[in-house]
Amino acid sequence: MKNIVYAAIGILALSILAVVPSNAEDKSLYERIGGYKGVAAAVDDLVERLYVNKSLNQNEAIDLVHKQKEKAAFKLILATWVMENTGGPKIYFGRDMATGHAHLSISHREFDIVLNECLTTFYQLGVGQKEIDELMAGLEAQREMVVSAKSN
Ligand code: HEM
Repeated sequence: MKNIVYAAIGILALSILAVVPSNAEDKSLYERIGGYKGVAAAVDDLVERLYVNKSLNQNEAIDLVHKQKEKAAFKLILATWVMENTGGPKIYFGRDMATGHAHLSISHREFDIVLNECLTTFYQLGVGQKEIDELMAGLEAQREMVVSAKSN
């Protein structure tokens, strides 16, 4: 009888552990990357590098945007997108991804360049591997909406 009671307690404990998420899993990606401060640091680092990326600036439409002296505004709008899309406050006020990029004729190659720069930023800031994987998957999911060039 005693054994049955112990076994029942054991099963109960295991099933509670299985349904109650641990603290880390409880937190949104936004929280795990440091909230608005983490997002601001990442966007700041990334945009500085994108603006001087010679390969990207071979695309005249991108080069034109980069010469417009609106870098601070670009960082702000990008930060709101990242915040909203990582489970943070829903404050993105820009266009949808397809509309916001249609005029830039972005190629798959340029998309890859941007994703590589994102990865460099995440490594540089010491973002954890689990979070990097989630962030990169979220960015990759935008590819079909962002890329509009006829050729690669
Ligand atoms: C993961 C994918 C991407 C995300 C999440 C993203 C996010 C954004 C956001 C939120 C905006 C503002 C939209 C608006 O003004 O309403 C934007 C604009 C812009 N993006 Fe992206 N972007 C991505 C990929 C790219 C790529 C691959 C490039 C270039 C190769 C690029 C270049 C630009 C430029 C130049 C603008 C400014 C357009 C303008 O103001 O005329 N983006 N992006």
